[in-house]
Amino acid sequence: MSDSAALHEHANRLAVEGGQPVRTTSLPWELPGAHWIGDEELELVSRVIRARSPFRFYGPDLQHMVDNLEQEWCTAFGHKHALGVSSGTAALSIAMAALEIGPGDEVLVPGYLWVSCVSAVVRAGAIPRLVDIDDCFTLDPADVERKIGPHTRAVLMVHMSGAPGRVAEVARICRERGVSLIEDCAQTAGASQDGKAVGTFGDIGIFSFQLNKNMTSGDGGMVVTERDDLYRRIVALHDLGYPRTAQGRLDTSDVECQLWGVGARMSELTGAMCLAQMRKLPLITHAMRSAKWQIRAAVEDLPGLTLRTIPDPKGDTGPFLLMVLKDADTANRFVAALRAEGIAGPPGSLACLTMREWGMHWYSNIPSLVNKRSNSRDGAPWSLPSNAFATDYDYGIGALPRCDDLQDRGALLTIASTLTPDDVSDIITAIRKVARVILA
Ligand SMILES: Cc1ncc(COP(=O)(O)O)c(C=O)c1O
Repeated sequence: MSDSAALHEHANRLAVEGGQPVRTTSLPWELPGAHWIGDEELELVSRVIRARSPFRFYGPDLQHMVDNLEQEWCTAFGHKHALGVSSGTAALSIAMAALEIGPGDEVLVPGYLWVSCVSAVVRAGAIPRLVDIDDCFTLDPADVERKIGPHTRAVLMVHMSGAPGRVAEVARICRERGVSLIEDCAQTAGASQDGKAVGTFGDIGIFSFQLNKNMTSGDGGMVVTERDDLYRRIVALHDLGYPRTAQGRLDTSDVECQLWGVGARMSELTGAMCLAQMRKLPLITHAMRSAKWQIRAAVEDLPGLTLRTIPDPKGDTGPFLLMVLKDADTANRFVAALRAEGIAGPPGSLACLTMREWGMHWYSNIPSLVNKRSNSRDGAPWSLPSNAFATDYDYGIGALPRCDDLQDRGALLTIASTLTPDDVSDIITAIRKVARVILA
């Protein structure tokens, strides 16, 4: 063999089999908003510190960071009401309580989700009912239609991995069947479908600003609604159970609004971070979306590789490329080969994974759900007489065939918000190189 033929052969041989990897430097961390933290965040947070006023409702020199964030959020995404809170998990609990969900009720949840989605239902005293997903990796409208029953009070549509699925259809079913729709937009800040922002399809929408999200303040969240009645309850619930006066003091006088709060206010420091980050959100999501769709366009012809369906690519925020392979063994070998080609992040990051490695994003990987755990000694909500209708509900693997199949055969690549053209080109080269051998 000539030298150049040997070199060519070495470059074409998979790195996992001793060939030359496509790249030797790691890809950036996947944390979308964190890469963009800079002077703007520093300036707004410093203002709060200089004013010695980190509490949102009153203080010596209030900077109104959370107020401004909520107003800009409503303007940017077309919501009537937005309320900053301390986390997405708290936001989900607030949503359940705002809709008066409790014992005797059932909430439909997808099998591809995050543990917080189930814990909000269980802590409300209600029963989660699993619904299968479709090729969008979100609620399958046909299964929603099938599973709505006499105890169903709400459907929780979780817009997973950066993009909405068939949300308009699910919203229509909910309207027709008289059940509430909660949208979990934790992973989709800035996303839309057919020009309509996520969080505006249902009764209540929630967002998270935890470190892995499209924009971040480390921790934080938002609750949105178009309904005045719900907003009043949401405000009381996120705080101490009561509304506030114009002076920011608790108002116990309204007999219609005397509730139990969850203590999930957003601080002005968090509000300042979020405000700076939300102003960058269009840039962050544009960067991820354009990198991801370049990659999709360059690999979509590969036989044996199926990409997740995204009904409206313009509304995708882009942080994840979801791929489906022939079977579990192929998915394992495909991901191992990609990692060996250098398609991996720095130590500790989760850049390139099989879907089976994606932890509590899958119902069957949530031990407290599978084992029906309780926070209290009486075993509630599972043991409550009003929840006896759900005694037979089973949450172990096998409950949702489509979910189990996509978990088995799926692979996930995170799309960092700071990929360079060279990074994108390396990802494409690596996927094509690995596919030629593994998917042949
Ligand atoms: C789909 C989904 N829902 C809810 C949450 C909870 O958000 P947080 O971590 O802010 O509590 C997350 C993220 O962690 C999530 O991915």
